[in-house]
Amino acid sequence: MKAIICNDFAPLDQLVYGDVPDAQAKGDQVVIRIEAAGVNYPDGLLVQGLYQMRPDHPFVPGMEAAGVVESIGPDVKRLKVGDRVATICSLGGYAEKVAASEKLVIPIGDMDAAEACALLVAFGTSHHALKQRAQLKPGETLVVLGAAGATGVAAIQIGKIMGARVIAVASSDEKRAIALENGADEAIGYDNLKDQLKEMTGGKGVDVVYDVVGGAAFDACSRSMARNGRLLIIGFAGGEIPKFPVNLALVKEFSLVGVFWGNFTRFEPEVYADNMRELLGWHKAGQVRPMIEGRYPLAQAAEVLTRVLGRGAVGKIVLIP
Ligand SMILES: NC(=O)c1ccc[n+]([C@@H]2O[C@H](COP(=O)([O-])OP(=O)(O)OC[C@H]3O[C@@H](n4cnc5c(N)ncnc54)[C@H](OP(=O)(O)O)[C@@H]3O)[C@@H](O)[C@H]2O)c1
Repeated sequence: MKAIICNDFAPLDQLVYGDVPDAQAKGDQVVIRIEAAGVNYPDGLLVQGLYQMRPDHPFVPGMEAAGVVESIGPDVKRLKVGDRVATICSLGGYAEKVAASEKLVIPIGDMDAAEACALLVAFGTSHHALKQRAQLKPGETLVVLGAAGATGVAAIQIGKIMGARVIAVASSDEKRAIALENGADEAIGYDNLKDQLKEMTGGKGVDVVYDVVGGAAFDACSRSMARNGRLLIIGFAGGEIPKFPVNLALVKEFSLVGVFWGNFTRFEPEVYADNMRELLGWHKAGQVRPMIEGRYPLAQAAEVLTRVLGRGAVGKIVLIP
């Protein structure tokens, strides 16, 4: 089968579109014929050796995919050939087929495969961050950094469902327009972020910050927190892991809250399943609408990842084998 192969931790243009042995269903696994593979920012870090996980080579990247069950292992209980499903698979998604344990597979019925991918890492991360980690409450102020990105768009939509006032932060007029289209109440740029947030909250400060950017934006937000606020640490797309003067947390009585969705799905599978049920329900009711920026041929994975890591992507992108 065709796949994207990472032969070494190297720049993105070293990824190879080539042939690997067909995925096989062992034990409780199903083989999914992939209709769409989700592109995620960490995929681009992983293949360059810049992510916390460092798999042995060669490997096929791709942590989420959706499609049709083509074959099932001997221990599969729930699924059958022909079911349409989505999965988080850690690796192997950038391919024509992937084998996944049925425990990690969610039935999607007739849902669009690209939207199903978006509901996994992007919406899954934002949902977990705002629900379990921040415990966001109606009426609170939520600031979303990188608001037009894949997880940012999801954070805006989920923040609105949870009843927050959502202030989106994004770097261009086009990205701010996308944030507003996705439900943000206000959209601002990064310049003078601390002063802007102070003014917009009448001096009270921000209750919850969703930070995928880090660097100077984190610094500004850490000085703009309300008492009992929660500053969510999601990622460092800006490239700089910030340093934090802990006296700020003391003086302002706010919390820094780490978010690691992948570990959440492994350590709390029942809560993860509840979250996915809620997300799928919101999707069915039309309350969440994943924004699919583009569907590109699998062979273009390197170009697409270059754009994602270069700040050039909005919403969710998928690869089509
Ligand atoms: N902790 C977790 O469980 C978890 C789960 C999923 C993703 N993540 C992390 O969250 C981050 C965002 O993921 P995503 O899927 O939302 O990515 P994305 O779609 O690429 O969006 C990232 C956003 O970050 C902003 N950004 C600021 N400086 C940037 C730079 N130098 N390069 C690229 N983007 C920059 C961009 O918006 P502006 O141009 O408007 O600033 C961009 O829209 C990544 O670091 C990813 O690894 C963490």
